Amino acid sequence: MLDKIKEIREAMEQELREAASGDQLRELKVKYLGKKGSISELSKGMGKLQPEERPKAGQLLNELRLKLEESLSAKQQELAEKALELKMAQEKLDVTLPGSPVKLGSRHPLTVVTDEMKEIFLGMGYTIEEGPQVELDYYNFERLNLPADHPARDMQDSFYIDAKRLLRSQTSPVQARTMDRLCPQPIKIISPGAVYRRDDDATHSPMFHQMEGLVVDEGISLADLKGTLLNFVRQMFGEEREIRLRPSFFPFTEPSVEVDISCMLCGGKGCRTCKDTGWIEILGAGMVHPHVLEMSGYDPEKFTGFAFGMGVERIAMLKYGIDDLRVMFENDVRFLQRF
Ligand code: PHE
Repeated sequence: MLDKIKEIREAMEQELREAASGDQLRELKVKYLGKKGSISELSKGMGKLQPEERPKAGQLLNELRLKLEESLSAKQQELAEKALELKMAQEKLDVTLPGSPVKLGSRHPLTVVTDEMKEIFLGMGYTIEEGPQVELDYYNFERLNLPADHPARDMQDSFYIDAKRLLRSQTSPVQARTMDRLCPQPIKIISPGAVYRRDDDATHSPMFHQMEGLVVDEGISLADLKGTLLNFVRQMFGEEREIRLRPSFFPFTEPSVEVDISCMLCGGKGCRTCKDTGWIEILGAGMVHPHVLEMSGYDPEKFTGFAFGMGVERIAMLKYGIDDLRVMFENDVRFLQRF
């Protein structure tokens, strides 16, 4: 029995020294300490020993068990330390290196201005409507009093997709769509969005943005339009601004006006920006044509309305003193960072 214990002890020590992984340690534990392990088997043999031999053998067996448990946990610790050391050697992190800078983006000037315009109109009780950019000829032209072959269609050279559909050349089709949906309720909406025309030079881009406004109710007059636009202009460009309405033509408004604001650079005295007139044109507007109201089902004897439409790029350029429209679309970071 004593020899047996010694033999197991030696084999065990040898195996422990060679063990190189947690799995191997677990196997050793089962092999020696498990229910059917060598030490348990030896304990079972105790009964066959002479009574005087038993205490000694029992003591040795206990020592063996303790020794193994200790060695196993020591070895486990050793392996864990080694693994950690290896990991540390492989993953070097120099905390003294400077961090990589987080680059902050900025909002595009068109977004800034669009949001500001929306805020102003929301403050006057308007709600926001959107319409499709691929629009039916029917809404983009016919419902705005521009039947096929109407010469005013040339005012806006447009991109057709097929015989019936085009990229909308203005946000005005949203007027017709909204009137169709809401008739006979009163309307007070703005409709911002992209529009498309076949122009491309320093002052025109094939894609640009407009914001349309439409108010329909009983008793709406040109004075309401003027008051609304004056309020907008003063919030956008400063309390000192004045506006002036000049007669103009749009097929879907009657009367139609072109709206100028007093030049924000010279205050109306005359400068390069206002071409010495003291005034800068900013938008088109008018009273909704009775026929346009009628096409949606509004009774033009009872309902009147006004509409206006302006270019967002133009407003942004005037606001920030930008003189080339193309910078809006080139997305040069140095330009964008100014906002
Ligand atoms: N849709 C017109 C344009 O693009 C602008 C406008 C809108 C004029 C609403 C009158 C009323 O030129």
